[in-house]
Amino acid sequence: MAGNLFGKIFRITTYGESHGKGIGVVIDGCPAGLTIDKSLIEMDLQRRKPGQSHITTPRKEDESFIIQSGVFEGKTTGAPINIFIPNKNQRSKDYDKLKEVFRPSHADFTYLSKYGHRDFKGGGRSSARETAARVAAGAVAKMFISAHGVKIKAYVQRIGKIAIPDEANLNLQIEENIVRCPHSATAEKMIRRIEEVKVSGDSLGGIIHCEIKDCPIGLGEPVFDRLNANLAHAMFSINAVKGFDLGSGFKGTRLLGSEHNDEFYLDQDIVKTKSNNSGGIQGGISNGMPIYFNVAFKPTSTIFKKQQTLNKEKEAIELEVKGRHDPCVVPRAVPIVEAMAALVIADHLLRNRSSKLDH
Ligand SMILES: Cc1cc2nc3c(=O)[nH]c(=O)nc-3n(C[C@H](O)[C@H](O)[C@H](O)COP(=O)(O)O)c2cc1C
Repeated sequence: MAGNLFGKIFRITTYGESHGKGIGVVIDGCPAGLTIDKSLIEMDLQRRKPGQSHITTPRKEDESFIIQSGVFEGKTTGAPINIFIPNKNQRSKDYDKLKEVFRPSHADFTYLSKYGHRDFKGGGRSSARETAARVAAGAVAKMFISAHGVKIKAYVQRIGKIAIPDEANLNLQIEENIVRCPHSATAEKMIRRIEEVKVSGDSLGGIIHCEIKDCPIGLGEPVFDRLNANLAHAMFSINAVKGFDLGSGFKGTRLLGSEHNDEFYLDQDIVKTKSNNSGGIQGGISNGMPIYFNVAFKPTSTIFKKQQTLNKEKEAIELEVKGRHDPCVVPRAVPIVEAMAALVIADHLLRNRSSKLDH
């Protein structure tokens, strides 16, 4: 199985399966001398973990981790950093019934067709358990980029049909509510909607908005590694993602060029734009304005309603799943979006060092 590596200089390889001994990540290319605050890795893993509130899956995953290499006396050594997260709470029995069937819209059919076998005990590499490894690596990337002054913040913008109203005042202390929405009245509606749908055995999708602030001008490598292309790749590599739009995105198609263009002006010595429909990236290169994008997540595919599907013998069957699943993955995906964005920026900060001689 190829494709477990992400990045060019600040690179990660994730490994492990949801029901194996554990999962982990090897970070290659992180410069020596970066101070590692383990509590920041711990905090982001807690934000991603299942069982964190009544609107997530009741599955419990122990998020304790071991830094096996690459850090000495609290600082990176320049050697590969291996972070291992042991698996402790597998309930493989929950998955026995899924051995013979293809869950609609899950990865069962494609994994079996491609590899000739599949890990039915929790989904193996297709399980979002793998994203814990990225979140651990993303926390290291966040420490690296914050040393360069770059800040990343994501939050839940929409759950199903409930969205933050335009022009609402936002409180970005999103950890104050379990749905990670920066508008408390909307957060309450979202939580109630997830509760309702959970009781009915169904699921919901939603949108995460992410902003990257104080990103230096010049990140992004034309032509195939445009910063926007790498961000899209990063976001689409997250389980259950169905859409990505940056800046004005799909809405921008409704505007005229005269409405859409971001006019330049000088603010003291700094070149800025009056509007930011470009989403902080022009020609694939960051222009110093805030980078912002939306990531769309589909409703969780494993639901507890009766569904028609096929089994391994390609016979039509009726499926009724039992077990522990997220009624909506979106609140748990916020730290995953942040982690992937941080990995892209960390990589491009390092890549940009080779763009011209005075770097
Ligand atoms: C944080 C998170 C938690 C998830 N939890 C579940 C879950 O409990 N049940 C499920 O069927 N899918 C869950 N998913 C989505 C599946 O991993 C994903 O739909 C599946 O691997 C198929 O991939 P695709 O949806 O990208 O095609 C979760 C995704 C994320 C990001």
